[in-house]
Amino acid sequence: MYKNFFFHLRPRKVPARAVRFTLTWGLGGAATLMVVLQLLTGLLLNFAYEPFPVHSYLSVQHIQTELFLGRLIRNLHHWTGHFLLVVACLHLLRVFFSGAYVTPRRGTWYSGLVLLLLVLTANFTGYLLPWDQLAFWAITIASSMLAYIPVVGDLLQNLILGGTEVNGATLHIFHSFHTTLLPLAFLFFMSYHFWCIRKAGGVKVDGADRQNMLPVVPELLVRELAFAAVVSCFLLLFAMFFDAPLTGMANPSLTPETVKAPWYFLWLQELLLHMQPVLALCLLPLAFSIFLLLLPFLSQKREKPSLFVQVIFISFFLVIITLTITGVWFRGAGMKLLLPW
Ligand code: HEM
Ligand code: HEM
Repeated sequence: MYKNFFFHLRPRKVPARAVRFTLTWGLGGAATLMVVLQLLTGLLLNFAYEPFPVHSYLSVQHIQTELFLGRLIRNLHHWTGHFLLVVACLHLLRVFFSGAYVTPRRGTWYSGLVLLLLVLTANFTGYLLPWDQLAFWAITIASSMLAYIPVVGDLLQNLILGGTEVNGATLHIFHSFHTTLLPLAFLFFMSYHFWCIRKAGGVKVDGADRQNMLPVVPELLVRELAFAAVVSCFLLLFAMFFDAPLTGMANPSLTPETVKAPWYFLWLQELLLHMQPVLALCLLPLAFSIFLLLLPFLSQKREKPSLFVQVIFISFFLVIITLTITGVWFRGAGMKLLLPW
């Protein structure tokens, strides 16, 4: 029974080249492990967390200072959420450069894009939950950017915030979404992602020698378990030594000197400082999204992305990374440019 279930997910044998670490860099596996960790630590946090203004802040403080292992579990949930986003983006890069997005992997690519959106949404909705000044103002600035979207902007902002500003209703919406719909969506789309990978005959291995096959158990499984142990140790050590931030309680009438969006949306805030809002917050992100959606059709017959496609992709990524770094490290009070040293 166990064997049957396992072999529905995995084949019995894979080409010898498929077990090489440098084929996938373990990124899809690491992302899977991190989502599972988030579900487990999130479930635990939810026992002690109270989703109401003031109470939420106090409950996070309580988790942090008084509950057994509370600080470690909160730190783990906080940092793993952020690392997951980085790992999912690296996984997207690796998949892109392997050209693993064309038929028969189109479904895997699209479900991957949905998973990336879920990781972003989970981080964004989680960000508000501690209800401290950092969370309150970061979500305020990030959601205010929505209002620049022509026609539907105000409606969208109202829908997400449950009103025109961040308040108790927003906290309620974010918490419900974060702890019910999102975990379900993760389970569904991850299962679909894995099913697509299996249906496409496993991960893409260029010119694999089908004579030279290795059994999945133990060859691949042992390597996967060893890598999972390394990733878990790294996350645990990081959570032991670095505390998740918790500033003063949210105060809507006390605007801090510098208000920055969560780091993964800072590139948008940065773009807004340089160009016309509709171009910065609507047309450019839309163009990149359309590019990612059309990618499986742009280079259908090729093994690897064409030079033209690579140039567009790398340019977009470099712009996003440069703007994010500028926003995180080179902006001080009032979003003025400064050197971090
Ligand atoms: C991939 C899935 C998830 C991600 C990326 C994620 C991310 C986050 C982040 C970044 C925070 C803010 C942490 C902080 O600064 O304190 C947070 C808070 C929280 N999350 Fe999640 N989360 C996920 C899944 C879940 C699940 C499944 C639950 C519960 C069923 C959950 C419950 C909570 C609770 C109660 C908090 C508030 C406590 C706190 O802030 O320490 N999360 N989440
Ligand atoms: C929570 C996020 C994600 C999880 C848990 C996940 C999980 C996995 C796993 C376990 C694999 C097989 C091993 C590997 O290639 O590393 C894989 C492959 C794949 N993933 Fe993801 N993935 C995620 C996000 C994404 C994203 C953002 C994309 C791209 C848009 C994507 C597209 C793909 C594709 C196309 C493959 C097949 C690669 C091949 O055949 O060589 N995934 N994913």
